[in-house]
Amino acid sequence: MAIKTVLRMGEPCLLMKAAPVAQFDTPELHQLIQDLEDTMQHMNGAGIAAPQIGVSLRVVIFGQKEPIAINPRYPDADTVPYTVLINPELRFIGDKVENDWEGCLSVPGMRGIVPRHLKLHYAGYDQYGNKVDRLVSGFHARVVQHECDHLDGVLYPMRISNLKDFGYSDVFFPNQDFQDD
Ligand code: NI
Repeated sequence: MAIKTVLRMGEPCLLMKAAPVAQFDTPELHQLIQDLEDTMQHMNGAGIAAPQIGVSLRVVIFGQKEPIAINPRYPDADTVPYTVLINPELRFIGDKVENDWEGCLSVPGMRGIVPRHLKLHYAGYDQYGNKVDRLVSGFHARVVQHECDHLDGVLYPMRISNLKDFGYSDVFFPNQDFQDD
């Protein structure tokens, strides 16, 4: 059990292009996945990327192990299965784009409306080197795009098309009980 400090926007590590993982099924990689999982669960995140805990490698995790546990921050998150995705490749299907709210553990207390591709194919590996290959849409596709952006040093505020759609969670949603993010 190791809950790591999540780096906040402004840290140079969050703006770097992360390096690919060269070797699978190593103690170091398993430890990293465990740290990401502990940190994501502790923060109630929909996903987390390795650079957010200061490790500049192309590793993200997202989704939930227990479909019955509704994430209070993202009620749709139960539709996304728990996934470890390493060295991901994304291919957008069609050109349909959807606007929706996003937050990020590295931008605590804020929300913004971000355009994302509606449908995509993603491929990569899990921590054992097994191939991951999925065609997804909607919230699942959004989470993958958000997390994989972290691997290229892109934070969601950089994707907001109208900065009027960016602000504090408790101002936009005064009746919702958000945690620190
Ligand atoms: Ni994020």
